[in-house]
Amino acid sequence: MCGIAGYVGKRRVAPLLVDSLKRLEYRGYDSCGIATLDGGKVWIKKDMGKIDDVDGKMDLKNLPGNIGFGHTRWATHGKVSKRNSHPQTDCKDRIAVIHNGIIENFSELKKRLKRKGHRFRSETDTEVIAHLIEDNLRSGLDLEEAVRKSMNSLKGRSAIIVAERGFPGLIAARTGSPLILGVGRDEYFIASDVPAFLNHTRKVMYLDDGEMVVVEGEPRFRNLTDGKGIEKRVITIDWDAKQAEKGEHEHYMIKEILEQKETIMKAINQDEREIRRVANEINKAFGVFLTGCGTAGKVCQTGEYVFSNVANKHVNYVVSSEFPNYRNFLTKKTLLITVSQSGETADVLEAVKAAKEKGVKVISLVNVKGSTLDRVSDITFLIKAGPEKAVASTKATTAQLAILYLLAYACAGKLNEGKKLLLETASKINDMLNPRYEEYIKKLAKKICREKNVYIIGKALNYPMALEGAIKIMEVSYIHAQGFAGGELKHGPIALIEKGSPCIVLTANDGMNNIIGNAMEVRARGGFIIGVGPKRNEVFDYWLKTPDVGLASPIVNIIPVQLLAYHLGVLRGCDIDQPRNLAKSVTVE
Ligand code: G6P
Repeated sequence: MCGIAGYVGKRRVAPLLVDSLKRLEYRGYDSCGIATLDGGKVWIKKDMGKIDDVDGKMDLKNLPGNIGFGHTRWATHGKVSKRNSHPQTDCKDRIAVIHNGIIENFSELKKRLKRKGHRFRSETDTEVIAHLIEDNLRSGLDLEEAVRKSMNSLKGRSAIIVAERGFPGLIAARTGSPLILGVGRDEYFIASDVPAFLNHTRKVMYLDDGEMVVVEGEPRFRNLTDGKGIEKRVITIDWDAKQAEKGEHEHYMIKEILEQKETIMKAINQDEREIRRVANEINKAFGVFLTGCGTAGKVCQTGEYVFSNVANKHVNYVVSSEFPNYRNFLTKKTLLITVSQSGETADVLEAVKAAKEKGVKVISLVNVKGSTLDRVSDITFLIKAGPEKAVASTKATTAQLAILYLLAYACAGKLNEGKKLLLETASKINDMLNPRYEEYIKKLAKKICREKNVYIIGKALNYPMALEGAIKIMEVSYIHAQGFAGGELKHGPIALIEKGSPCIVLTANDGMNNIIGNAMEVRARGGFIIGVGPKRNEVFDYWLKTPDVGLASPIVNIIPVQLLAYHLGVLRGCDIDQPRNLAKSVTVE
């Protein structure tokens, strides 16, 4: 889940790479580095820390040349250190490599290479690639073939870019982790994600798994297995660079929360025939699974309730990392619905692989067009939320929920009713997200920002949102937060309630919500009750009003919790858009 970016063209490469890396920093941010080619030499600067800090310290932008690449790291193999930062090089510093992924057989490869006399200087799995290429070059292969052969020796998921002293271009390859070629005028960009070069070009060519590209003049795509050439199409993407900027906002997160005024409306603008067709497939299927990770997983879990309540349809939520364990339940009649903002989450892709092995049809809800998940799915619904840059997902969450609602209503043969409800919900969110509302939530954040624990409870449709609310608070403010099903509290967690313990209670006017009794139990033990929902109740010490949208309550109830998490994070001086230890796109299992 590191970010990688390369450039081959006529411009000075180093400033361009620093800019690209900053745009990719959401993918990992514990260390970074750049390599450029100039005057027959590979120039490298790298260190621990975020791009701006490392650039401030080492003047990354000052490296010479018009060809090069950069990397921003989320450590997997080897601690966060200068030595373990990328680029990694071979014994003679002639070959430089950056890498996103995990090499599962790196210990064996390292041992073998060491026996052959290669000297290793880092604890990373990546360094193995540089030495493998060196080894293959020594055996007489040219760089292209050496890279191809080396990639074929790696197990696991990887995306790499390679530079060699004297080679007037770059070579990139992928087996699992994402890689995209941006096509400019006489210049080319290679990156893990489109925003890296969106301010230069919207024309892209996607590398598929098991492919490499040689960028030396016109790019040449080849198959990694047999080396055969591959024809590629240039695709123009419809995101513009501005959408991926912070604009007047201090953080991406708040920008993206406020964008929910429009994103739900955009999300539900889907091809109705396609929605009906998929609904038909869902109704016909024998066993429907919903899968995703993190926040997207909580969306799926909500989906389980939505399908049950709206369409009387049993769908099973399974978190993606566990999905392969369910392979015995999969048949050709099973349907898998995956939800992923990035479309690159490794655990989701593994779930899809397990499903495909059993002939299961895969339908995906994805934000990033052209992402791996988009391309491997039988049918994709793009959620159209626009680029989401903050690590904590907000606008993608509600857009994903909205599409699951559409599908559930379509399954019940009530698509128009569902659409009407969602349109109403979108317009009410537009009204709700006003500056006064935010001020009121800020006031609450001030009141509870020194707390060590926050609890959040919900029932039925709002239970998964209680779990999601806890994720938001934890990741953005570092306050320990835990979500529970309201009824579960008395079976253990209530022992934690002390005088003043904040407990957020998600309520709704959906005919299933008898959570007030649970709130009372907490209040009776001294808890500070923060009610979220359409109706004030005397048990609330603080009330965050949300519009009454009936069954669509999860979509509106999560928004004040997102805002609360944001303001708690700001007040506690946290790194809002890039919380410690996290990354937005988790491309390792
Ligand atoms: C990471 C992110 C989460 C996200 C999850 C799944 O953990 O920090 O915000 O929910 O990955 O990502 P996806 O792109 O598949 O939705």
